[in-house]
Amino acid sequence: MPAASSPASKTAVRSSNVPYIVKSSSIHGRGVFARRAIAPGDAIIEYTGERISWDEANRRRDDNDPLNLTYFFTLNDGRVIDGGVNGNEARYINHSCEPNCEAIEYEDGSVWIHALYGIARGDELSYDYTLVYEGRHTPAIKRAFACHCGAPTCSGSMLMKKNSARYRANIRLMQG
Ligand SMILES: C[S@@+](CC[C@H](N)C(=O)[O-])C[C@H]1O[C@@H](n2cnc3c(N)ncnc32)[C@H](O)[C@@H]1O
Ligand SMILES: [Zn+2]
Repeated sequence: MPAASSPASKTAVRSSNVPYIVKSSSIHGRGVFARRAIAPGDAIIEYTGERISWDEANRRRDDNDPLNLTYFFTLNDGRVIDGGVNGNEARYINHSCEPNCEAIEYEDGSVWIHALYGIARGDELSYDYTLVYEGRHTPAIKRAFACHCGAPTCSGSMLMKKNSARYRANIRLMQG
């Protein structure tokens, strides 16, 4: 269920006070870090990019490389934001099993990354990707989606477990 209205006039952050910075991450590649303290609930950045159908997303995916969905964000209506096309820094936010942010989809279709808790300057921003992989979770797939978030409760995988209620709910959403 999308949240009602997106952050007021989408000016959550003035350019002089941008709360994030992109730099190298110990989780993976590049990550996004707090450039200053961020308050609980703050809208940090919108997840932008080209909006495409799930069919188009599948066409863009290299089937030999399941991780080639890197900058895809799946919307509640089954469409996808491809952050690789006209996307912003939000596409560099890594996944964590103990995230300090959440992605909220608003009724106007925008997606914003919000702080779940107070975040200290220098902390890496993360959210739970809630990734669904419907195919068999073979050893190769498990390796490809291994999670390196480093959280004490890390599940070891960026994929949602197939027997979880959330996985089943996401499948229903994707199937419309
Ligand atoms: C949206 S990108 C995040 C930015 C990425 N670090 C980069 O440099 O482009 C998502 C990709 O980052 C990697 N990634 C993100 N979170 C991860 C994690 N917790 N463990 C391992 N790899 C992760 C995976 O390759 C994933 O497909
Ligand atoms: Zn993890």
